[in-house]
Amino acid sequence: MAVRVIPVDPFDLVIFGGTGDLAQRKILPGLYRRFHAGQMPAEARIIGAARGDMDEEAYRAVVRESIATFVSANLCEAEIVDAFLAQVSYVTLEARGTGGWKELKGKLRNDVVQAFYFSVAPSLFADIAERLHKNGISRPDARIVVEKPFGRDLQTAQALNKELVSFFDEEQIYRIDHYLGKETVQNLMAVRFGNVLFEPLWNSQYVDHIQITVAETVGVGGRGSYYDKSGAMRDMVQNHLMQLLCLIAMEPPNRFDPDAVRDEKLKVIRALDPVEPSEIVRGQYRATASEPGYLDEVGDPNSRTESFIALRTHISNWRWNGTPFYLRTGKKLGTRLSEIVVHFKEPPHSIFGEDAGGSCNVLTIRLQPDEGMTLSVTIKEPGPGGMRLIDVPLDMSFAEALGPENAEMPDAYERLIMDVMRGNQTLFMRGDEVEAAWRWTDPLIQGWEARGERPKLYKQGGSGPEDAQMLLHRDGRRWRELDP
Ligand code: BG6
Repeated sequence: MAVRVIPVDPFDLVIFGGTGDLAQRKILPGLYRRFHAGQMPAEARIIGAARGDMDEEAYRAVVRESIATFVSANLCEAEIVDAFLAQVSYVTLEARGTGGWKELKGKLRNDVVQAFYFSVAPSLFADIAERLHKNGISRPDARIVVEKPFGRDLQTAQALNKELVSFFDEEQIYRIDHYLGKETVQNLMAVRFGNVLFEPLWNSQYVDHIQITVAETVGVGGRGSYYDKSGAMRDMVQNHLMQLLCLIAMEPPNRFDPDAVRDEKLKVIRALDPVEPSEIVRGQYRATASEPGYLDEVGDPNSRTESFIALRTHISNWRWNGTPFYLRTGKKLGTRLSEIVVHFKEPPHSIFGEDAGGSCNVLTIRLQPDEGMTLSVTIKEPGPGGMRLIDVPLDMSFAEALGPENAEMPDAYERLIMDVMRGNQTLFMRGDEVEAAWRWTDPLIQGWEARGERPKLYKQGGSGPEDAQMLLHRDGRRWRELDP
């Protein structure tokens, strides 16, 4: 099954922070892969903008290096890399000054899609937006792309939204949550709304509970100074896990259209119950004989920031009344795994008797690695030993099901940048969504700060603090194991 590639219209894409980490690791390699696949047209131009004083050749060398480092060698044919680099240029720019803006204006065309990627600290968003506007650079149909963190609480997010909307309309603003660009995250919608099988059962009458896990094996590493001011709640739950929760819980939108989808997601966030302190477990990984612990990595022995969080929440609406949603995410856990597990209820009456075995159906949607789905189904245990039941998995790996030519899924950034060029905001967060997510998150953070709580220590390479297991045990349930 060949992948269909539909080229986007020619564009000018300006990357502010064009020499930064995100540009080099994700944006530029992603654009190159889209160029290689034939989706980025030959008439497209990429303009790196940063304060570093360098000429275009020097910038092309930076881009060449980032492609060599972050794109698989089998896609790096010399003539294709050269052709891509011929579409790349650079401008030295003062985000808070006057230098470079005229040059930037001179590089832009009037008859192509115009996009500006703010791959810079959020404190620069307003300065850049204002200069784009005042210097008559951005057109009324220009698109701007902004990255998380989008605020650190409701107040800062509102301030940021206000600054941006004073220069750009909401339809021009593309707030990236890279989880929405992941293939399987979009598949959540395809699975739910493209099949008749699941939707009739997708409610509290049939679903016992839902678990959402994003487990990482990496620690905070060199990002300690950023991370320690955020913690797992701000870094992962307020955005990535919240988006997963929305897609799994929302009502069917009437169309796959940006506002129809985002309206439904917003309703989920607004229906989230406040979370009680007893429903939240926060943790910090401790040092081992050979590995530093969280406190060593952030260089603050008194830090109370969490590198792990697990919580239970409820959605107050007709569909989900009574079904708990358990969310957890953490660093330095035993396995790198992101998945959503839907536990269905037991059949209302067992005709085989209490001792026959078998339990309930469990649908596991694996986001990474090895994207796919598993449905555990109860069947008869083979053999003549009477009617005994066992659970067996119906297991589907998307890579296997779709064939080797589709095994390498596009990176989330590639897809999202192409959506910006197509002018499709479905997979981007709307301002009101971000604010609603903070409105739910803020009291939880304020609560544990006011109580002066210290996170529980947990061992590296496991499932997080013991209390996180207890959170489910108390309800007679259990998390899926994360030990390797
Ligand atoms: C980022 C967080 O948004 O997502 C990181 O800031 C985290 O802390 C990362 O490691 C996880 O993304 P992925 O795509 O590797 O699951």
